[in-house]
Amino acid sequence: MSLSWMRRADRLKALPPYVFARLDELKAKAREQGLDLIDLGMGNPDGMAPQPVIEGAIAALQQPQTHGYPPFEGTASFRQAITAWYHRCYRVDLDPSSEALPLIGSKEGLGHLALAYINPGDVVLVPSPSYPAHFRGPLIAGADLYPIILSEEKDWLIDLNSIPENVAKAAKILYFNYPNNPTTATAPRAFFEEIIKWATHYEIMLVHDLCYAELAFDGYQPTSLLEIPGGKDIGVEFHTLSKTYNMAGWRVGFVVGNAKIIQGLRTLKTNLDYGIFSAVQAAAETALNLPDSYIKQVQERYQTRRDFLIKGLGELGWKIKPSQATMYLWVKCPSDTNSTDFALDVLQKTGIVFTPGNAFGEGGEGYVRISLIADCDRLGEALNRLKQAGICYR
Ligand SMILES: Cc1ncc(COP(=O)(O)O)c(C=O)c1O
Repeated sequence: MSLSWMRRADRLKALPPYVFARLDELKAKAREQGLDLIDLGMGNPDGMAPQPVIEGAIAALQQPQTHGYPPFEGTASFRQAITAWYHRCYRVDLDPSSEALPLIGSKEGLGHLALAYINPGDVVLVPSPSYPAHFRGPLIAGADLYPIILSEEKDWLIDLNSIPENVAKAAKILYFNYPNNPTTATAPRAFFEEIIKWATHYEIMLVHDLCYAELAFDGYQPTSLLEIPGGKDIGVEFHTLSKTYNMAGWRVGFVVGNAKIIQGLRTLKTNLDYGIFSAVQAAAETALNLPDSYIKQVQERYQTRRDFLIKGLGELGWKIKPSQATMYLWVKCPSDTNSTDFALDVLQKTGIVFTPGNAFGEGGEGYVRISLIADCDRLGEALNRLKQAGICYR
């Protein structure tokens, strides 16, 4: 029986099925069947947050003022830690009161930014493939989405010349993300200069997601939108503590950049949430103040896993270009299969979870994403299973 109150709002109907939720169902089924899953599906770092971060949270919990509602705009000391960190990493000067806003994870902010700025029918440019919140947030807000299809031939970089003039003129916002999830692509500084020039010309807001900035290897240094002249005039940059500091479950991230853009998001959030638990903000502040040696350790961990898996998969005939950043491998499916079928086949035959590339939009079809979220012993076990199941390219 379907009663009228059961009918969901139209904005939910615009959403394609959330592949991660579907994957969760399949994983649950496989577990019920007694399969020992090796889950390399989500971007959920293994292991705990660093010890000083845990201690920072415990110390904050002992303070009576931690337990009440936090300030809407985040604690002053966390905002200061964010701007000091940005200065240390990128030599970018930011005002902690107007140009930095803590978020309940960057996914929350990415989605709410769309609600704060997009009216139904507004044109929003989103690369395909991309992190799902970059297109799901705008879809919920009623955006007329224009997917910019990325390709391996163009190194997964946005080709601004491929965007028709009438679309560029109509567009209000462009979401983008380098180092990129899921493709692992990185963008040179010249690309940032070009996109700022282009967006300034067409008066388009730039929303850059720098979620993987510290997970970079082989001496590569990612670029911040804000370090490029003109970036802060038209854009904001999102960041998260989930990946670098193993704090995905703590739900803490932030947005920095253009004060006017941030003010709109702050106004919306003031009406919807109370911000982040103060103990989590204190812990996040501790994380941002960790010495560079911590970041180096994290980079070495992912780099070792990357090299181990690429070598092992190479022996099975898989040709994978080493990524310079992120915690993923982006792998072409065998030519006779598509993303979903390939990921399901691997799951059923081996108990290994890969994410089908089409979870990130039509431009991800034909690929799977493998997260480097298990140690080399476990990755070795995954390689053995793939070999035994005959899942190779020969
Ligand atoms: C590009 C990108 N942005 C944002 C997020 C979400 O981060 P958070 O945990 O801060 O919501 C992810 C998570 O996988 C991501 O890949």
